[in-house]
Amino acid sequence: MKILDVREMTKTFGGLTAVDGLGIEIETGQILGLIGPNGAGKSTAFNCIAGVFPPTGGEIYFNGEKINGVKPWTLCRKGLERTFQIVKPFASKSVLYNVMVGAFAVTDKTAEAEAEALAVLKSLHFESRKDVRAGNLTIADRKRLEIARALATRPKILLLDEVMAGLRPAEVDEMVAIIKELRDRGITIFVIEHIMRAIMALSDRIVVIHFGRKIAEGTPDAVASDENVIKAYLGEEYVVS
Ligand SMILES: Nc1ncnc2c1ncn2[C@@H]1O[C@H](COP(=O)(O)OP(=O)(O)OP(=O)(O)O)[C@@H](O)[C@H]1O
Ligand SMILES: [Mg+2]
Repeated sequence: MKILDVREMTKTFGGLTAVDGLGIEIETGQILGLIGPNGAGKSTAFNCIAGVFPPTGGEIYFNGEKINGVKPWTLCRKGLERTFQIVKPFASKSVLYNVMVGAFAVTDKTAEAEAEALAVLKSLHFESRKDVRAGNLTIADRKRLEIARALATRPKILLLDEVMAGLRPAEVDEMVAIIKELRDRGITIFVIEHIMRAIMALSDRIVVIHFGRKIAEGTPDAVASDENVIKAYLGEEYVVS
């Protein structure tokens, strides 16, 4: 069953075509990677799917329902949630408070939101940090908090935009393990990442875009040995750390 089906999606900003006739399909329970050079249109594609702004053209189906132009908070309640490339927690508030903000998407009862937030923190081995002010967290912990906040909304599909950028190699490994655990718990994952080692280890399939267009799609091995991909992206951008 296709949880996400994006057909011929286009997004223009004035004269710039950031996403150009993009088609993407994700099966329930899979991890799909999205890679491509800086400015290729990856975050823009996520923004269209997650309702930040509607696509200029094309169609987006979530569990068979057309969701073009549906607002992020409505999508969140339907089970589609994303993280942001630039993480902006409520810096003066605790980790627990920040995760409860996510949980309020599924309950309006404070006690339930707190219980949900605590359960999520525990599942991410993060509960020991629950009283720390978000502004005092390391980058790695902020990324983890961003995932925790998203998870507290009980997503069916989670869109992760560069949650590993800025992490040390050991922290990347930890994040890869966390994301695999989420998939094992039944959450479908759509992930943008520049760290090739991570995206190769995670993804069932990878879509490569360049100037908003899909230039390759397939298993990690097939994509990594594709000449167009090497020319457009891996040759210059390969991140080994
Ligand atoms: N809100 C916006 N208004 C105008 N142009 C935009 C906007 N958002 C993105 N763009 C442009 O659209 C193109 C695609 O940007 P996008 O952020 O989607 O790339 P990306 O693949 O996520 O890149 P990166 O790997 O650097 O995060 C770029 O040329 C960018 O400058
Ligand atoms: Mg981006």
